[in-house]
This record gives sequence, structure tokens and C-alpha cells, in this order.
Amino acid sequence: MVKKSVLQQQRAAYQPKLPAALWSSVQAVKGAPTQSVADQEKIKELFPNTYGLPELTFEKAAEAAAQGKAFNAGVILSGGQAPGGHNVISGLFDGLKALNPDNRLYGFLMGPGGLVDHNYVELTADIIDEYRNTGGFDIIGSGRTKLEKPEQFEKGLEIVNELGISALVIIGGDDSNTNAAVLAEYYKAKGAPVQVIGCPKTIDGDLKNEQIETSFGFDTATKVYSEVIGNIERDCNSAKKYWHFIKLMGRSASHIALECALQTQPNYCIISEEVEAKNLTLNQVVDDIAQVVAKRAEAGNNFGIVLIPEGLIEFIPAIKALIAELNDILAHHPEFPTLAPAAQREFVLANLKPENAEAFASLPEGVARQLTLDRDPHGNVQVSLIETEKLLSEMVGKRLAQLKAEGKYAGKFSPLHHFFGYEGRCAAPSNFDADYCYALGFNAAQLINCGATGYMSSVRNLTKPSSEWVCGGIPITMMMNIEHRHGEDKPVIRKALVELDGSPFKAFAAAREEWALNTCYTYPGPIQYFGPAEVCDQTSRTLFYEQTSK
Ligand code: FBP
Repeated sequence: MVKKSVLQQQRAAYQPKLPAALWSSVQAVKGAPTQSVADQEKIKELFPNTYGLPELTFEKAAEAAAQGKAFNAGVILSGGQAPGGHNVISGLFDGLKALNPDNRLYGFLMGPGGLVDHNYVELTADIIDEYRNTGGFDIIGSGRTKLEKPEQFEKGLEIVNELGISALVIIGGDDSNTNAAVLAEYYKAKGAPVQVIGCPKTIDGDLKNEQIETSFGFDTATKVYSEVIGNIERDCNSAKKYWHFIKLMGRSASHIALECALQTQPNYCIISEEVEAKNLTLNQVVDDIAQVVAKRAEAGNNFGIVLIPEGLIEFIPAIKALIAELNDILAHHPEFPTLAPAAQREFVLANLKPENAEAFASLPEGVARQLTLDRDPHGNVQVSLIETEKLLSEMVGKRLAQLKAEGKYAGKFSPLHHFFGYEGRCAAPSNFDADYCYALGFNAAQLINCGATGYMSSVRNLTKPSSEWVCGGIPITMMMNIEHRHGEDKPVIRKALVELDGSPFKAFAAAREEWALNTCYTYPGPIQYFGPAEVCDQTSRTLFYEQTSK
């Protein structure tokens, strides 16, 4: 029997704060027809039935609505875990039951694959109550099966019809929500009475735009990483003998690294988007870190903290071009994975353009090999498996040895390595994520109730008290553009990268020189679940800067 911790027991009783807009019956106010962020004609052609829909905002209805006919809904968790997923599901469950106590919710097991393979469970009140305000996705599990083929949609339709489900809620990141839009379009085109609603999930923080202020999980995960970085900083400042190279999850975007830097004030933080914009080479990045190490050594400080976003390697322009060509080669040569490692290397070198072959050959063999390994089902390089923290510290060590030989450095350099990712993805959600997720789920029930399909659940105004949050739905096609993926042009939700003219980056850039040379560490400490609101309900720094600079 699983034993619950004392915190878990206390936390189970937490009642997430619901936006006032959802306290009673709502009416959906329609905005003007929408356009996709780019490639409007192409997206319209691909989504003839779900393109151009209006934004929806929920307002308190003038009169309490009569109870509607009961219906069944299904829910799927897709992709990497993110704190708060269980609260989306409990909010959805409570929202459905508030509409009609006879409404039922089915959970498809282990991600989108559960829909295709007909693996499901009915989520009853007893099950839901076990998972309120807990981290993890274990209530129904998650998976990365990509829902993209008509055969999968048809298999999904079989089980949906069998269970009498009229709406599916897909909780996922940009790729999974793209698939939700494709599925919504497919069912609508076919006249199948199944609505599809998405929910913005990912610790990476890269599913956001004008309409979606943040994805859930980012707040909690970055607070967990910042707590541990703060602890390392304090250790580092006590022993004064190590340089800690800390890689942080986040896939392509550097939002997590930037947020942790804003929370902990390390000596160095790489922002991949800046590396790309400045067209820096790996050697230039290394040289810059080595200069900071040398300057700190001059002041007698042979210690420090370097934060590294896990996607860095993909943003170094020469390597980015290499990865793009490798993606095409791998997509067009399905036999590639069956070759022996040495033959794979030869094959790649022989098929790449000369400049990319040169970049490939210049990488340490382990890293080069990693770039040729299997992509995830969405065609992404599995950057979390590349040990950039070791690669960088090794290169910095070599550069410092050169500086020493030239008489420009006389310090000591002892690097230690860390990778924080999985540690934060299933943490008990912060109050922010617990409330935000519950609202996203509850709101999704309202979107179903008003007949929406191809929409993402949206809760905004997030730096204000939760009672003032604005709820509604955003057409997913509105967030789309065409990108070259896996050797093909595809409609996808545009990924939000760190904006160098955005206020979170500017706040970091204004302070980083001081943080590099002086020791300005901040120790955020662990997430607080009980206590004054200014300690417990603080949003991420990123959200704070983004929303307050508007
Ligand atoms: P999602 O985009 O699916 O939310 O996943 C986020 C993430 O945690 C990335 O930061 C990381 O690169 C990846 O998942 C790791 O994938 P896996 O869980 O398959 O190891």
C-alpha cells in the first residue's frame, strides 16, 4: 500500500482558487474571426473547417443556465510530465460534474496511444480525489505517440463511439496541440460529432503567445531547479573551490535557463537564442566562459556557476544547419538505424554537404553520434541526452590551459557537472500551477459545453489574483505556421523562443556582468505551499516581466 507523506495529506485538502468568471453559469462571448500567425493561405487550405474561428471569452451569464443533457468526455496526457497535470484533470472532472452530475470522464492510458489502442479507464470521484494537487501524470500515464494518421483517427473514433464520448481533451505541448487541431479538423470534416480541445502543457515554457500567457508546469519546475541551483550556489560560495556546470531541461528554448538565472543570479548563463542571433561558434561561447573564469580567478574566486540550456547545441548556427540536413537524410533513409555505428558515421559524412560534414567531423564523436540517433516521434533531436555540460567544461578547461601557458591565467579550475530536468517535472504543483491547471481543466469543460472544437483552453491575466483571471478559448489554427520538419513542410504551432528584445532577457542582460564578476547569488529556497501569499503565490519572474512590461 502506498503511504502518503504528511505534505501530500495536507495538500490533498487544498482547494484550488477558481477565476470568478467560472464560479457560476457562463456565456461565451465571440471575438472577431482569427488568422494564423503566418502562412495564412496554406493553413486555411489545410484546415477548411476549423480555420478563422473567433476567440471565445467566458463571462458570467445573466441567468443561471438550465442543466444540459449529460455527455461523456475523454482526456489524454501527451508528452513529457509537467507539474499540475492531475489538476487539469480534476478541474475538468469538477467542471463536467458542475454542468451535469451525470457527465462522465474517461482517461486514455499512456498518452495518445491509449486512444488508438483502446486502453482507457473511467475516472470516478474516488480516483480523482486521490490525485488532487499532486505532481506526476500517473493517474492515467503519458506517452509520445504522435496522432497524425487517418488510421489512428479512425481507431480513435471507434472507441469514442463505443464509449459515447462527444469530446476529447488533449493535454500537451506545441506538437500535441498541433495534433489536437488536426484531429479536430478531421472529425469536423467527416461530420463526426466529436469535439477536440487542447490544454497548454510543458515545463519548457515554449508554448505561449499573445493569447496563451504560459504553459503549465513551467512555474513549478523552474522553482524546483532554482531551489537546487541556489543550494549549489551556497555550497559553492562556502567551499570556494568548484565551478558547477549545470545543464537545464527545456528542449530548444532557453526559457527555463533564463528563468532560473533570474531567480538565482549565477555567474554565467547561456541563452541559446542569443548564441544564434550573434552567430557565435562553440569556441566563442567557450572563450567567453573562460574569460569569466579567469577574471574571477584574478579576484581570488576560483568558483562559480554556469547555467546551460539543453538545446544549446541546436542553436549554434553551424550545428543547426548540420542537424537540419541530418533530419532530412535520416527521414529519407529508413535503413540508417540498422547500420553499425562506424558505418553510420561513414554514411553521414559521405552524404552531408561539405560544410556540414566538416561541422560533424569537428564534434566529439559521442556528441556527433547523438545527433544521428533516433528522433522523438515529433522529429526532435533528443537534446536531453547530449552531455553539453561536460563538453563545455572540457573545452573551457582546455582554453584555460592555453591562457595559463600564455601567462594570462593563474587560477584553479575544478568543474562539477549537473543536469536538472526530471527532478522538477513531477514536483507537487506550486499554488500557481495548482490553481492555473485546475482553471484550465474547469474551463475546458465549459468549452465543450459551448460546442467548441479545435480550441485551446485559455486562462489569462495571470499576474493578477486568480479571481480576476480571464477564461475562454483560442482557435489552435491561430497559433500555427508552416515549418520544415522531418523532411517535409508541416503546419505546426509556432514555438515561442526567448525574445532578445523581451523584458525577461533584458532584465538578465542588464545584470549579468555584475553577476559574472561579483558573487550575487540568490537562494530562493523550496516552494512554499502554506503561508503568506507573497511567498506562496508568486508567479515566475518571466511571467512577471512579460506581463508587467505590456
Ligand atoms: P514536452 O515538450 O513534451 O512537455 O517535454 C518536455 C521535456 O521535459 C523536455 O524539456 C525534454 O527535452 C524532454 O521532455 C525529455 O523527453 P523524455 O521525457 O522523453 O525523456
